Amino acid sequence: MNVTVVGLGKIGLPLAVQFARKGAVVAGYDIDRALVEAINARHNPLPSEPGLTETLPGLIVSGHLRATTDPRDAAARADVIVLIVPVDIDAALEPDFALLDAAVDAIGPHLRRGALVLVETTVPAGTTRYRVGARLRDASGLVPGEGFALAFSPERVSSGRVLSDLADYPKIVGGIDELSTARAAAFYREMLDVEVMTVRDAETAEFSKLVETTYRDVNIALANEFARAADALGIDALQAIEAANSQPYSHVHAPGPGVGGHCIPVYPYFLLHPQAPGAPVAAELAPAARRINDDMAHYAVARLEAAAGALEGATVVVLGLAYRAGVKESRHSSAFGLVSALAGAGATAYVHDPLYTDGEIRAHGLEPPPSFPLPCDALIVQAWHAAYADLDFGAFPGLRAVLDARAALDPDDVRRSGAAYVGIGRPG
Ligand SMILES: NC(=O)c1ccc[n+]([C@@H]2O[C@H](COP(=O)([O-])OP(=O)(O)OC[C@H]3O[C@@H](n4cnc5c(N)ncnc54)[C@H](O)[C@@H]3O)[C@@H](O)[C@H]2O)c1
Repeated sequence: MNVTVVGLGKIGLPLAVQFARKGAVVAGYDIDRALVEAINARHNPLPSEPGLTETLPGLIVSGHLRATTDPRDAAARADVIVLIVPVDIDAALEPDFALLDAAVDAIGPHLRRGALVLVETTVPAGTTRYRVGARLRDASGLVPGEGFALAFSPERVSSGRVLSDLADYPKIVGGIDELSTARAAAFYREMLDVEVMTVRDAETAEFSKLVETTYRDVNIALANEFARAADALGIDALQAIEAANSQPYSHVHAPGPGVGGHCIPVYPYFLLHPQAPGAPVAAELAPAARRINDDMAHYAVARLEAAAGALEGATVVVLGLAYRAGVKESRHSSAFGLVSALAGAGATAYVHDPLYTDGEIRAHGLEPPPSFPLPCDALIVQAWHAAYADLDFGAFPGLRAVLDARAALDPDDVRRSGAAYVGIGRPG
């Protein structure tokens, strides 16, 4: 079977490797020439993604996997085409389809009659049928459902554990018609060793991913609301949540300085912008949760000020640019909100992250510290990377307070250095 994966990013490349390991002849299509050349030279561009370094070179040598920047070369022989090019939000908080549209328009003219096209990128409901399907029809002259099969299957994995997640979570599949659903399900049954769950149609499958992600955002907003209430009362919200979660119907997540990454803080907005015809969507809880979570950076800085004194003229170091520990992914990271709240309080904010070079931090519009450790007034734990495990708070001259926004520290470790410990939902 010839399979083409469109978009060889943090998810697309491991996916291509998985299909190749299962015996498909896989072509990966990407517009990033350097990435394509590196892969063809048997170099793994994702060294922290488990399982790739061991498998990728052998799959290139055996001819099961290759990468290309040529859409004709990628698509003309493909039996199955998997689209995994991101859709983000723009400044107006509306879905930005530019990358996905460009990929579909490039592949479309070379679509083979009888091919199966699978969208895995998280998208607003209706995108597969009404946007991708329509563009493929215009570019190829083939009618979706007649000239080619078309289905949506949400990608539910997390970067840093893609291959193991692929072997763990049921694969949800919904097509634009029954045959598309059946063909998509058969493909995934051959390529993955997990249960394949078929749903009513492509829109239901698309919506299921928005349910999963919006649930988490709203849940975190609730945890943040609990944390703020508990902070006001001097109660330990983390202990209270842990205690509540010992009952099987309570699944409250953890409070924190905001919600980062390119999934959870983005997809609630997709609910409001369906691509399917229908009445306007009225949502209140999801936008409210977004506002609560986005405000947590200001709240965190206000907590820090309450413990450390006014931050006007102070130097504060945010530990972690990455949106979460151990992953070099910075999109919508809470580090940005914290830096802007610190600037609003008149502080000089530096961002330190062992996963990024100083140049990479500057390329994000942020400033790395001139040295590390360094004299400073406060530290904020935003992403507690493994490399921080031995961090000595006593090595930061003048340190007044540490805001542990991830509940990652032992408060006594901080206090031994003479600095105050501040948590979110955790009494100092
Ligand atoms: N990263 C995650 O943890 C995660 C988790 C679950 C689902 N997803 C889904 O996977 C999608 C992709 O995420 P990712 O982390 O792999 O993104 P990424 O940014 O790492 O990779 C995207 C790739 O697409 C390529 N690309 C951009 N425009 C293209 C075009 N016109 N034609 C071909 N290739 C093009 C880029 O060069 C890049 O290599 C997300 O939008 C999301 O829907 C991601």
